[in-house]
Amino acid sequence: SSAMAEERPLAVVTCTAPVNIAVIKYWGKRDNDLILPINSSLSVTLHQDQLKTTTTAAASRDFTEDRLWLNGEEADVGHPRLQACLREVRRLARKRRGGSTEDAAPLSLSYKIHIATENNFPTAAGLASSAAGYACLVSALARLYGVEGELSEVARRGSGSACRSMLGGFVQWQRGERPDGRDSLAHQVAPETHWPELRVLVLVVSGEKKQVGSTAGMQTSVDTSPLLKHRAEVVVPERLALMMRHIRERDFEGFGQLTMQDSNQFHATCLDTFPPIFYLNDLSRHIIALAHRFNAHHGRTKVAYTFDAGPNAVIFTLADTVAEFVEVVRRSFPPATNGDQWGVPAGSGVPWCQDPAPTAPNPCPAPQPGPGPQLVDDPSQHLLGADGLPRCRA
Ligand code: DP6
Repeated sequence: SSAMAEERPLAVVTCTAPVNIAVIKYWGKRDNDLILPINSSLSVTLHQDQLKTTTTAAASRDFTEDRLWLNGEEADVGHPRLQACLREVRRLARKRRGGSTEDAAPLSLSYKIHIATENNFPTAAGLASSAAGYACLVSALARLYGVEGELSEVARRGSGSACRSMLGGFVQWQRGERPDGRDSLAHQVAPETHWPELRVLVLVVSGEKKQVGSTAGMQTSVDTSPLLKHRAEVVVPERLALMMRHIRERDFEGFGQLTMQDSNQFHATCLDTFPPIFYLNDLSRHIIALAHRFNAHHGRTKVAYTFDAGPNAVIFTLADTVAEFVEVVRRSFPPATNGDQWGVPAGSGVPWCQDPAPTAPNPCPAPQPGPGPQLVDDPSQHLLGADGLPRCRA
């Protein structure tokens, strides 16, 4: 064979993708396999300077099997949702190539692939790592196979909330009507530049793994909670329209109040689930009370909390309020015991915000809204080396 053939070229792509935080929550599926929700939802995509997932996907005819590494550890590549994403991207690639076999450029769809993915935030932060993770996986695979266009539908197959991480700024995941899910897609409501003063603080109250995962929890809620049914049919459609208006007008008071109310209703549906699901703990409730006291003191809504399927709080506020609220949180809780680390040891009961250096003048570099997935041009950033295996990290 020729020297060319012996070079064993490796096709490799690296992407990053953002975390998103829902202000109108997704909770409940009408189709478990296609991941179709019972209601539309709306989220803010966070800037990737602070929080992001990085994924490298590589393909080579020399790979003998598909392989996956999560944060440096080899993991099961056979996960049905991961396989669904892979299958869908390949299907789109095949469709795009119009079934022609003698295509000049594209990568062979029969090559095995290697995937390495890592988060720059600890899983203990309890953030929607699956949303950023699947958005990143789908972005990297799509680039690898030369697929463009609507990809939120593919990311949705990995995790419902992941479809919202495919876009930046303010994003709505439209429920859709079709049984095949073709209209259950994410749309950008406003770009990240729309509200540059908006800030997000993450208060980690527990590094423990959640007791009931979202997938199982929402299934039980759909099966047993009449409140969830009412929420999906009546409350969410009204709130979505209202939330869009608050965002359009950059009305923080309206936005913040509705964000808190929607988080509270989501947790009420969890309590209405039978047997009930509890995601909030005493510290979560302490933060809720603190936020209301803070707002009452100022005579208006200056901070808003929201909680997903776990006890850690996400706080929305405006840039001019970050330092004051962080100070209030600090005074209200015992000092952190683990110095300048993100996250806290499980069970230590210490709230934490995104604060790599507590004594620094800017104590809490709170993320603001940010863009969707990005292609990483710099080859030194690939997580896989020329041999297709994870690079040794310092
Ligand atoms: C409470 O997207 O994690 O964070 O679709 O089963 O993977 P699956 O669930 P997931 O659920 C997220 C639920 C939530 C609210 C939200 O992000 O809208």
